[in-house]
Amino acid sequence: MAAQAGTARPIIIDTDPGQDDAIAILLALASPELEVLGITAVAGNVPLSLTEKNARKVCELAGRPDVKVFAGCARPLVRHQVTAEEVHGKTGLDGPDLPEPAMLLQERHAVDWIVDTLRAAPAGSITLCTLGPLTNVATALIKAPDIAARIGEIVLMGGGFFEGGNTTPAAEFNIYVDPHAAHVVFTSGIKLTMHPLDVTHKALMTKAWIESLRQLGTRSGDAAAAMLDFYERFDMEKYGAEGGPLHDPCVLAYLLRPELFAGKDCNVRIETGSELTMGMTVVDWWDVTPHPANCRVINAIDARGFYALIRERLARLP
Ligand code: BDR
Ligand code: CA
Repeated sequence: MAAQAGTARPIIIDTDPGQDDAIAILLALASPELEVLGITAVAGNVPLSLTEKNARKVCELAGRPDVKVFAGCARPLVRHQVTAEEVHGKTGLDGPDLPEPAMLLQERHAVDWIVDTLRAAPAGSITLCTLGPLTNVATALIKAPDIAARIGEIVLMGGGFFEGGNTTPAAEFNIYVDPHAAHVVFTSGIKLTMHPLDVTHKALMTKAWIESLRQLGTRSGDAAAAMLDFYERFDMEKYGAEGGPLHDPCVLAYLLRPELFAGKDCNVRIETGSELTMGMTVVDWWDVTPHPANCRVINAIDARGFYALIRERLARLP
């Protein structure tokens, strides 16, 4: 889907696909309001060698082998690597039978490309969309602190406060995997918008919606339905719910239709000391500390509008 010259919002997607990451990437590539400058892969749901390959598979699925995909960091900054094959399957993208990608991985390291791209663009023009652990973004900020002033905004999926965690009782997966990276990002002074479990758990998929993707009669619709059938079985068992959440597309839907979401500016700090609550996003929702707000915390969503948007956009893909 070609963007209208000069009017599309330039974004970088940092991701660890992941079926929900895949739907988020498809949503972005189907949306002319967004210009995907590149996709940077990070270790997360599965090791880096699989996340970068999955990102390329998804670009080809969308008919966009021209999108640049870069491999980034292969492990968290400090802690040992944690993956989530129990949710996403051995490949990270279990469900559909997608072909091995023909498009090549870019040679440059994702972190170097992020730094150079931000330095070359007008300050404030690029939005970072992060759908996985924040290792690549934190490493870029450590390597080149000047880029903090050049990032327009970071919109991220991660964290959970009133809803608790999905990986430990206190921590959500993306923040738990690399809490030190999250600390770097949350203390960077960059404009942040966070989509925690508090919002993603309010918009559960239905069988009928997944089936409606299959009904599109396209290869993207078929593959999306197959990956979501596989992906949602884990959360349905875990939560005893009728459908699972679809976390990562919230980030892209927020850029496309911010009116579907609501939240509050809060101070958010990341737990990096206690093993018990490691990776917890401590949100000062009630403003009980003197610490200034550093993040917009999203906690409400129009679920019908969200799922209608994704289906409408996916219908534009081959
Ligand atoms: C997040 O963790 C991953 O498993 C998903 O892709 C999503 O980014 C949800 O906690
Ligand atoms: Ca993800």
